[in-house]
Amino acid sequence: MTTTTQEILDEIWRSLDAAVRGRTPFTLGYLGTVDAAGAPRVRAVILRRSDRGSGCLHVVSDRRAAKVGELAGDPRVAFTVWDEDRSVQLRVEGRALEVLDAEERARAWESLSPGSRDLYRSPLVPGTPLADDGAPAGSGAPTGTDGMPVVGSAEESATGSGAEREDDAAAFGRFAWIRIDCERLDWLDLSASPQARWEFERGGLGGRDERGGDDGGDQPGGLDGLGQRGGDDGRAGRGAEGEWTGRRVVP
Ligand SMILES: Cc1cc2nc3c(=O)[nH]c(=O)nc-3n(C[C@H](O)[C@H](O)[C@H](O)COP(=O)(O)O)c2cc1C
Repeated sequence: MTTTTQEILDEIWRSLDAAVRGRTPFTLGYLGTVDAAGAPRVRAVILRRSDRGSGCLHVVSDRRAAKVGELAGDPRVAFTVWDEDRSVQLRVEGRALEVLDAEERARAWESLSPGSRDLYRSPLVPGTPLADDGAPAGSGAPTGTDGMPVVGSAEESATGSGAEREDDAAAFGRFAWIRIDCERLDWLDLSASPQARWEFERGGLGGRDERGGDDGGDQPGGLDGLGQRGGDDGRAGRGAEGEWTGRRVVP
């Protein structure tokens, strides 16, 4: 049976949606940023929101974490997830920014489990050096009531129940709600025989950065224009509703 490019696009957004509604292999991904020296930096993050209509994904972080400063300097990001059960990889490229809208931040904050919100209570900046005895006892990864792993640095856990904890407002002030505007999607299906790969590009966002080299411009057939469900949500920085164009490519 032939899978169409439109079916793959539908599957991508269905998978991303499922990953934020419950725990799936796509719930945990790897976010790449570019630091001030131009070096790549990658770390695990939990996918918190997916919206096909606007072509956006959201993740959370501590505003004081290195990644947030990196995004302010260079918004380009890559986000990759791997589903071992289905043998499928999804790579997302785009631009990310910290959402500063008060109401949207508040809604995102409320959607976190109390355990996840607690991670922002420590006044200590992530990455602050600690003495050897500053590490928390035990090694089990705690889980928030939303079923997502509670993530935080050692110092946050070390001070988690102490008098140093500050109030909710301070914790909220440290919370970063980060939006990734997806510009390119790359779906690699290793379960297919032969292996199959599709790439998609979102129109109306200013085009693709040059990757250099032969980017397949002599391939037969252009990118198929694919309609997109839903509309643009009108948030700042978004153009008119962009459509995804896609094509099957050599894996
Ligand atoms: C399973 C797992 C999930 C994580 N989820 C997040 C997350 O959603 N947001 C986040 O900021 N850090 C998360 N982290 C921690 C980051 O990987 C990283 O260590 C931390 O954010 C500091 O990164 P930075 O210094 O590059 O900002 C997670 C780590 C693991 C192992």
